Amino acid sequence: MQVIERCLALSQLSEDSDRLTRTFLSPPMREVHRLLREWTEAVGMTVSIDAAGNLRAIYPGDTPECPRILIGSHVDTVPGSGSYDGIIGVMLAIELVERLRGRRLRFGIEVVAFSEEEGVRFSLPFIGSRALVGSIDAAVFATQDRNGISIEQAIRNFDLDPAALPHAMIDPNVTLGYLEFHIEQGPVLEHENLSIGVVSAIAGQSRYELTFTGQANHAGTTPMRLRHDALAAAAEWIVFVEQTGKRTEGLVATVGRIDASPGAGNVIAGEVHATLDVRHADDATRRKALRSILAAARRSTSKRGVTVAATQRLDQTAVQCDPEWVSLLEQASESAGYRAPRLVSGAGHDAMILAQRVPAAMLFLRSPGGISHHRDEAVRAEDVEAAIATGENFLKLLELRIG
Ligand code: GLV
Ligand code: MN
Ligand code: MN
Repeated sequence: MQVIERCLALSQLSEDSDRLTRTFLSPPMREVHRLLREWTEAVGMTVSIDAAGNLRAIYPGDTPECPRILIGSHVDTVPGSGSYDGIIGVMLAIELVERLRGRRLRFGIEVVAFSEEEGVRFSLPFIGSRALVGSIDAAVFATQDRNGISIEQAIRNFDLDPAALPHAMIDPNVTLGYLEFHIEQGPVLEHENLSIGVVSAIAGQSRYELTFTGQANHAGTTPMRLRHDALAAAAEWIVFVEQTGKRTEGLVATVGRIDASPGAGNVIAGEVHATLDVRHADDATRRKALRSILAAARRSTSKRGVTVAATQRLDQTAVQCDPEWVSLLEQASESAGYRAPRLVSGAGHDAMILAQRVPAAMLFLRSPGGISHHRDEAVRAEDVEAAIATGENFLKLLELRIG
C-alpha cells in the first residue's frame, strides 16, 4: 500500500546510521523534501519551502479566489523513532489529493509537511507550525541547540532566509481550517478493536530545561558531607517528578534526558542538564504540578549547596478541537462504515498550534501494541484505508457545507 511504502521509504532518511533520527533542518531533511516534491508535483501540486523549513504543496481549487484547507503533520522525528509518527499524516494528505485524480474542489488543498514538532534539537517543539500562526519571536530565533547553533542560524544553514518568516503565515480569512491524521500513539483504539478515532481535545504541556550546578571534585578524596553533587540533587528531584505524576490523576511528568558533566566514574558531577515535560488536559492542574516540581528542585539543590536554573521552553495550553469539524469527521467516518470514538490526545500535535487561528481537527489511526516514539511503531493497512475513506468523505462534507 502506497501510504505505508512511502512512510517506510522516508524512514530510511536519518541522521543516525542505526536508527531513525531526523531533527529540525538536519541534512536528511533535504532528501525528505526532494521526495515530497516529487510525489506532490506528480499530482499537480505547486511546491515551496517556507522560511521555517515547512514544505507546502498546493492543489488549487476550482477558482483562483476559493478558500483553502490545510492538511498535514510533521516530518521530524524523535531519536530512535518509528516510521509513522507525523509522517503518515503527510502521506495521507498526499494520498487524498492523488485520489481526487485531478478533480477540482470548491476549495484548494494545501499539504503541509511541518519541519519540526518534536522539540528534540532545541528542546522547543512546534517550530514549524508556530511559523504558520506567526508566533516565532526573537527569543525563539535565539534559542540554541547543544552545539550553540541558534534556530535563526539553522535556518540560514539550510539555505533559507529567516527574514522571510512572515510570509509563512496563513491568512485565516481564506483558510477553512486544518486537518491532521496521526497515529494514536496509545492503546485505546486497539483495546476497543477500532480502526480510527476522532480527537476532541489535546492535553496542554509544559517543557523546561534545568541546569543543576554544583562542584566537580575527586570522588575518592571528597568526604560525603563536603560535596556539592549536582547529579545527586537532580536524581532526588527526578524521583519527585515521577511521584508527582503518579499521585495526580491524569498528569504525566517526565525527565527524558539528563547530561552530567564532566561525566566520569571517579568525578563528582559538577553540572547536570535535564529536560522536564509535564502534561494534563486541565491547565490549572498542570501549572499547579509544575510549581510543586520546580519547588522540589530548589529543595533538593539547596540542601547540597547546589544551585538550579530552570528555563521554560514551552507553556502550551490544552486545546479543544473545533466542534463542527469534530462532528464532520464523525459523520465522515460513519458514512464510510467505521465507528470512531472521541479521544483526548496526550501527545502534542501541530493541530494545537493551528487551532489558535483556524478550526482544527484530527483523526487518529490505531497504534498496534500502543507503541510509539519507538522503532516498533506500526500501522495496519486496514486502518490506513479507514482513514483514507474518512478523509474522502470529510472533503465531500466540507464541500457541501461551504456550498
Ligand atoms: C510529540 O510527539 C509529543 O511529545 O507529544
Ligand atoms: Mn507526532
Ligand atoms: Mn512524536
